[in-house]
Amino acid sequence: MASMQTQPSAARYPAGALAFPHRDLIGIGQLQRHEILFLLDEAEQWVVLNRQTNKREDLLGGLTIINAFFENSTRTLLSFEIAGKRLGADVVNMHAAQSSVKKGETLIDTAITLNAMRADAIVIRHGSSGATQLIADKVDCPVLNAGDGQHEHPTQALLDALALRHSLQERGEKATDFTGLKIVICGDIKHSRVARSNLLCLQALGATVRLCAPPALMPDGIEAMGAEVFHDFDRALQGADVVMMLRLQSERMNGQFIPSEREYHHLYGLTRKRFENAAADALVMHPGPMNRGVEIDSEVADMIDRSIITRQVEMGVAIRMAALDVLTRRTRGVDGWENAR
Ligand code: NCD
Repeated sequence: MASMQTQPSAARYPAGALAFPHRDLIGIGQLQRHEILFLLDEAEQWVVLNRQTNKREDLLGGLTIINAFFENSTRTLLSFEIAGKRLGADVVNMHAAQSSVKKGETLIDTAITLNAMRADAIVIRHGSSGATQLIADKVDCPVLNAGDGQHEHPTQALLDALALRHSLQERGEKATDFTGLKIVICGDIKHSRVARSNLLCLQALGATVRLCAPPALMPDGIEAMGAEVFHDFDRALQGADVVMMLRLQSERMNGQFIPSEREYHHLYGLTRKRFENAAADALVMHPGPMNRGVEIDSEVADMIDRSIITRQVEMGVAIRMAALDVLTRRTRGVDGWENAR
């Protein structure tokens, strides 16, 4: 593993609301490096709480959080629900079937309805890129993006960073950021909001990001975002410190992007043999849901000392608790946060 840069944790971000001067959490693209670090550091207290028997802290008592999910989800919805409840909020889940009207009137009407119910925070997942921002523009409370189309999934990138930081620190590295790390993201980059958010987040924290996909699943011009682009997975893996695998997002594909799952696995599946190309102690990540035997083999996904996939899920709750806490500080009149946007 490459050596890590260490920094004192004090003075990494401004005091009070200046540490996070945003009303909403729409994407990593809107965040400064120190704002990302602030959310990660805020989440640490919730990692500790979540490991205790009593996991309740009544910070958000009396507040209503609406999880409006227009797209299927298991772990993200559950994670946001648990996060809100652990902080004492009333959490309501709205599962709306994906509408055939992708944008416009329907979504705006929904936003107006949610607003009229006086939610204190709204968490949105939607199949259209930009849908979360559209809703945020219409409501009075903070909005959190739980994944919008192919655009962004900011809490996923934050939880991935936190999981990685914990795993590196457990190995004795004083990892406050990821300077010097080579991180491969392999899979359906084109349709993945996770890839986009992670590229932005990992780069902001100093990592070198290598994106790997078949040409048809690599977005045009992605090099402009500073990533190294590979189509040969074995080459991308050379000396990599971390390998993040992604699912084929079939539901977003119009037509045929790969010859077959078998062929895809042959070229881009993470097998134990192929994983040997990476650094000897490389870590493996996956946001889930996994398609075992397609993009990743069970032999790798379940490696006890190398796979941090379940840790990613654990950190998801802590990150979402941090985001809900920080974004509602103004409403709750927390000292120093009165001027938050
Ligand atoms: C991801 C998503 O929904 O974008 N899953 C998740 O949030 N854990 C990735 C995926 O669906 O493949």
